[in-house]
Amino acid sequence: MVRIVLVRGDITEVAVDAVVNAANSSLLGGGGVDGAVHRKGGPEILAACRELRRSHYGKGLPTGRAVATTAGRLPARHVIHTVGPVWSEDEDRSELLASCYRESLRVADELGDRTVAFPAVSTGVYGWPLGDGARIAVETVRAADTEVEEVRFVLFDATAYAAFEAAVGDAGGDAGGGAG
Ligand code: APR
Repeated sequence: MVRIVLVRGDITEVAVDAVVNAANSSLLGGGGVDGAVHRKGGPEILAACRELRRSHYGKGLPTGRAVATTAGRLPARHVIHTVGPVWSEDEDRSELLASCYRESLRVADELGDRTVAFPAVSTGVYGWPLGDGARIAVETVRAADTEVEEVRFVLFDATAYAAFEAAVGDAGGDAGGGAG
């Protein structure tokens, strides 16, 4: 069973084996988490993403998938880039969001990473309601069959932190809080 820890703060400052980036399918950067990861992690990360586009993902990384690169200057061994689904009123894309967490843990296992920091994927620019996004994140991580020992959900603001606290409570567990 993965230990879940909630942290208030900036994911680029969390020292773990793998930092998960809320990327887009181009893998060429953006705003939010993506912008922070590339800005703080430095050009090595973008260079590695470009190489992935050239060698494996000519059409871009599909939604729900995950791929790893160097972490550059971040206090981590790897960045795991995952592409969340954009929120849709008419289509239930929950499975794609769950896949982001499941696939990221699978990639972490392949790399031997034991501590993984996740942002609240899709709940920013991609518009996913925080409560539901938190529920999917916590349920998927709890149910995952993985060697990862600790997952830290790094929440950028109090609203997101509260949403994840509620999701952890609903999932019948307690998560150790952490300074942001
Ligand atoms: N650390 C932790 N969490 C952060 C940070 C940060 N530095 N910056 C933003 N967040 C939070 C947001 O508040 C939101 O709750 O991460 C969550 C995800 O928000 P986004 O980064 O906007 O990611 P997402 O909603 O998945 O949208 C992805 O946005 O930045 C672009 O290139 C990216 O096109 C892609 C899209």
